[in-house]
Amino acid sequence: MSRECMESIRNYKVDHGSVALWWLGQMGYLIKTPRGTLISVDAYLTNSCKKVGDSMGMNFDRKVPIYIEPEELSVDHFLCTHSHQDHADPETIKRLRQQEIPSFVGPGMAADSFVSCGVKGSKIQQIFSGGKLQISDITLHGTFALPTDDSDVNHLGYVLAIENGPRVYISGDTDYTNLLGHVAKLEPDVMITCMNGGFNNLNHWEAAEVAAMIKPRVAIPCHYDMFPDNAADPQQFRAFLHLRAPQIKYQQLEYVKPFVFKS
Ligand SMILES: [Fe+2]
Repeated sequence: MSRECMESIRNYKVDHGSVALWWLGQMGYLIKTPRGTLISVDAYLTNSCKKVGDSMGMNFDRKVPIYIEPEELSVDHFLCTHSHQDHADPETIKRLRQQEIPSFVGPGMAADSFVSCGVKGSKIQQIFSGGKLQISDITLHGTFALPTDDSDVNHLGYVLAIENGPRVYISGDTDYTNLLGHVAKLEPDVMITCMNGGFNNLNHWEAAEVAAMIKPRVAIPCHYDMFPDNAADPQQFRAFLHLRAPQIKYQQLEYVKPFVFKS
C-alpha cells in the first residue's frame, strides 16, 4: 500500500503551469512541479509523538493512517519548518533511505535534527526567515513564523515559487502576529495554514485574519487532524474565512488524493 502510494505520486504527471499537492496529515505534504520535482514538507510518518504525549498526560496517539512508510518516501528535497517532533520527526528521518534523498532543508534546530539523525552535512541547507534558496525548479522563500514556545525559537513558513507556475505558502506552526502579513509580498496563490489554536498556534479566526492579509486564491487548513488532544474543526476556519475574506476559496484536502492548482 505504502509503496504503491509513493509510486503513484512519483508517476503522477503535473500539467504545465500547475502544482500538485498531497496531504499526509498534520502539516505533512508532498508537493510536485510540472518538471517532476517532488518535495516533502514536515512529513510525520511514524507514531513517535505518542510517547511525548504520554509523558505529558496528553493523547498524541496518531489518528491519521501512515500512508507512506519512511523507508518508502522518495523525494528530491526533504523540508522541515522547525524542529518539533510532529514536523522534523527523528524516527521518520532515521528510517528514510537517506542515501536516495539528495537534499534536506530547514532552519536552525531542524537542521540539527537532520545531523543527529545521520543525514550527511553536505546534503543539508539551512534557510532563514526572509532568505531564499533555489531547489530544482522551485525558488524557496523562508517566511516569518512566530515561535509557539521556547523549545525552538526559529520557526519558519515557506513560500514555494514554482518556475512558470503557482506559488504555495505553508505557514509552519505559528502564533498570531501582524508580521505574518509580510507573506503578501510574495503573492502566494495557495495558502496552507495551521488553524488548530492548540499550543499557541493560529486558531481558526486568526488563520482567517492572516489569510485576509495575505490574499491567496485558495486557503487549505491543516494541523487539526493528527492528535486527539490537539484537534479542531476545520469548518470553523471555513466559516470565518467566508466572513473575513469571502473572495478566498476554502479547500479541504483528502489524504493522499492529488489536489491540483493551475495558475
Ligand atoms: Fe506542530
